Amino acid sequence: MLNLPKTWFVVAESSEIYNEKPTALKRFNLNLVLWRHNDQIMAFEDKCPHRSSKLSLGQLKNGNIECPFHGFQFDQFGQCDFIPEINHGNTNLCLNKFIAVEQNNFVYINLNPHTTDYQNIPWFDELAQFKHYSHYSVTWPCHITRCIENQLDYAHLPFVHKTTIGRNVKVSNNVKFELTDASIKMYTNPQNKDSSYFNFKFGNIWLLNILSGKFLQFLAFVPIDENNTKLYVRTYHNFITIPFIIPFVNFVLNIQSKIILNQDKGIVISQEPLNSIMATSEKLYVSDNGIKHFRDTYTKLCDL
Ligand code: FES
Ligand SMILES: [Fe+2]
Repeated sequence: MLNLPKTWFVVAESSEIYNEKPTALKRFNLNLVLWRHNDQIMAFEDKCPHRSSKLSLGQLKNGNIECPFHGFQFDQFGQCDFIPEINHGNTNLCLNKFIAVEQNNFVYINLNPHTTDYQNIPWFDELAQFKHYSHYSVTWPCHITRCIENQLDYAHLPFVHKTTIGRNVKVSNNVKFELTDASIKMYTNPQNKDSSYFNFKFGNIWLLNILSGKFLQFLAFVPIDENNTKLYVRTYHNFITIPFIIPFVNFVLNIQSKIILNQDKGIVISQEPLNSIMATSEKLYVSDNGIKHFRDTYTKLCDL
């Protein structure tokens, strides 16, 4: 399992998980099996404790998952409820269970197995006013830390994005960071109350507010394993009032976002070491204050 901050992580779109039907997902360098039962998300390691078959190949029976190999059944707490050859269960046989919830059309998992913190599932209040968003996902061959740091780095804009969003950007120190243990926020022009800003929230979500309240770019950085991270991309908008053109607008917004992210991708996957927390010889400048804080806080949250 990857060493990650012990907090909430977006792991999938809600639409990827089905009612009473197991789905296999690789996350955190672990094979997981997820399903929805009575509006509750179930998430377990995808491995039968009998002889290690993948439970995701099995089926749901009255809320229990049945292993496809020898028919052992496990209840919603992961305890073995039924073994065919002895005709009863065994409470010593348990699945590795994860704390999971569904909010904002995403499934989240908390990597702290003892958490009781269901009040602070990371999200952005400013998205409440938006009815529409375009969305897609793409997997990059790199570590989650490099993907996140790319979005905390404004000094790359006039170079990597010189033909798109970085065209007239000048890198100056006149930006303002707000740094806490839960988030990293940066305003590009602190004198202007409508300044554009980005906001990253641990474990893995980020929002960019470009056109004050009209258009927001959202990313979730979902760790598959050490070398692969899946980006869930959403563009929230509310400037369209004619409903039937919304699919067309969503299509165009996705193309625009793919062009910009593709400009980043080649650079980000070239960075070594893969895990930026190991990059102790890198020389950070003032524009990297968000990245420095990210590394310190990430390390602290990993060690909890
Ligand atoms: S491997 Fe799962 S029941 Fe035997
Ligand atoms: Fe970029």
